[in-house]
Amino acid sequence: MSFLELTEKRFSARKYTDEPVSEADLNYVLECVRLAPSAVNRQPWRFVVVESEAAKQSLWEAYDREWFRSAPLAIVCLQHKGECWTRAADGKPHGDIDVAIAVEHLCLAAAERGLGTCWICNFDPEKMKNFCEDPAWEVVAIVPLGHIAPDCPRAERKRKALEEIVERR
Ligand SMILES: Cc1cc2nc3c(=O)[nH]c(=O)nc-3n(C[C@H](O)[C@H](O)[C@H](O)COP(=O)(O)O)c2cc1C
Repeated sequence: MSFLELTEKRFSARKYTDEPVSEADLNYVLECVRLAPSAVNRQPWRFVVVESEAAKQSLWEAYDREWFRSAPLAIVCLQHKGECWTRAADGKPHGDIDVAIAVEHLCLAAAERGLGTCWICNFDPEKMKNFCEDPAWEVVAIVPLGHIAPDCPRAERKRKALEEIVERR
């Protein structure tokens, strides 16, 4: 599969079967996460695999959607605001960017294995505080991971045309 085919294969999956994710698939995806680049190689991140019913319950409270409950597991992706690189010129912290790259590695690696994912950022951050031991940790995204249900909805891929987004000087 070419990289273009892989990016076409990935989509936001919002319905899963109850088939568990194998350890081999989970480890593969996490290894792809581990190898993601980060600014100054700070790796200011942590990834919590949530699979117990009790822990999943707390996620559902933070993001209360019926489809989200169908995922056999979810990965909570956190940044450490004190460990990430900050650009001296203007003080811009890069932790969000670092974690975003790792999250997309996660999603693309899962797609390669035939699994579904969906970025979730529209959670209630207050209800995710139990994943942050100290205030320096921040949940950036939650990513459900599982086998895509046969009747999983898939929206038509709408993207701006290249001419709209690319400029050459
Ligand atoms: C940073 C980010 C945050 C997102 N948050 C949510 C979310 O909270 N809930 C949701 O259902 N989808 C969420 N999405 C999924 C987007 O809606 C989706 O990627 C976009 O509509 C394009 O569709 P596709 O992923 O199927 O190509 C998010 C995507 C990104 C990149």
